[in-house]
Amino acid sequence: MNNHPETSFTNLISQRNTIICCGSGGVGKTTVAAAMALCGATQGRKTCVVTVDPARRLADALGIGQLDNSPRKIEGPWPGELWAVMLDTKGTFDELIRNYSSDQAQVESILHNRLYKNLSGSFSGTQEYMAMEKLYELHSDSRFDFIVVDTPPTRNALDFLDAPRQLGRFLDNKIFRLLMMPARTYLKAVSVATRTFLRAISKVVGAEVVADAVAFFQAFEGLEQGFRDRAGKVESVLSDPSTAFVLMTSPRTEAVDEAMFFAKKLAESKMKVEGLVVNRVHPSFKLDNQGPIDLAQLTTRVESQLGKDLLENWAQMNLMADQEATHVRDLRAKVSPAPVVEIPLLDGDVHDLDSVRSIASFLV
Ligand SMILES: Nc1ncnc2c1ncn2[C@@H]1O[C@H](COP(=O)(O)OP(=O)(O)O)[C@@H](O)[C@H]1O
Ligand SMILES: [Mg+2]
Repeated sequence: MNNHPETSFTNLISQRNTIICCGSGGVGKTTVAAAMALCGATQGRKTCVVTVDPARRLADALGIGQLDNSPRKIEGPWPGELWAVMLDTKGTFDELIRNYSSDQAQVESILHNRLYKNLSGSFSGTQEYMAMEKLYELHSDSRFDFIVVDTPPTRNALDFLDAPRQLGRFLDNKIFRLLMMPARTYLKAVSVATRTFLRAISKVVGAEVVADAVAFFQAFEGLEQGFRDRAGKVESVLSDPSTAFVLMTSPRTEAVDEAMFFAKKLAESKMKVEGLVVNRVHPSFKLDNQGPIDLAQLTTRVESQLGKDLLENWAQMNLMADQEATHVRDLRAKVSPAPVVEIPLLDGDVHDLDSVRSIASFLV
């Protein structure tokens, strides 16, 4: 099914250091990411697959009990290694604070700050950013030479790509800069307008919240540069030639539309889709080059009702397969010459290594 044997998934998996799986939720991203990691281990690579899916889908797919923030090794009959890790957003953020702070007092004041607690757990964009941080961490971990990233199940998969830049914008933000000033300068320099502004905010959100925010940003002093540097490094991992973006979709119109949009946006950021996986494809039972089917004409040639029903079923399956192929056609053209693989809709869920292996068999 691979129409570009010279640039196949086998090559991507054996030659790249990082594969980032993108696509909208529900298309089978977690499953295919697990399958790619399994292929890596089978090729002898020291592979780690990272998921941010809180629904424990990766652990389920790999047939293991539980995953957490540190990589866990999965034993199996492969020449390489297979590790898996599930991103814990808050845990990763806390670790960063611990690593970057100059002393224990700074660690404590940040970790116990109420604004921080909210920000680290639920701030939109935090998950995407921390996933990037995790990618960077795994990338620099000598235990692994192949990382597969299952991106967050966000509506807009681009948030993930944009996270390092968003952090940069956040750090450059005027209000942020103002709040970052050391307390004494702050009191002197803050204009009447700003004080009025802060007082107005206090009335709406409560003085405590504003105090928390000011305290947070002051405690954050000195950490900023570390975050900025990391964001730069993460961006360089993303644009490194050893990193490949693989787009995943189902053959349904909505998923294909989103994948198309994603490919366009990626191109705008000077990055390209280097592989396309179309998952959960209905099989076609037509012969190669067989033209349109005249069902009415065919049914006249069959006597029994069962035969007629079966024929109709067959025709419907083929119709569905044709429609799916039509949906995917433009996307295939868009990502060309990237390799494309189709994975059929399997009967039953993917919940153990054997079923991940059968998904993997379509990739390589
Ligand atoms: N090719 C396939 N055939 C049948 N079921 C599949 C296939 N790929 C994925 N699934 C199932 O679809 C569901 C969603 O898959 P998942 O990988 O969690 O999607 P995503 O990560 O994109 O949200 C899971 O229950 C999984 O077992
Ligand atoms: Mg998922």
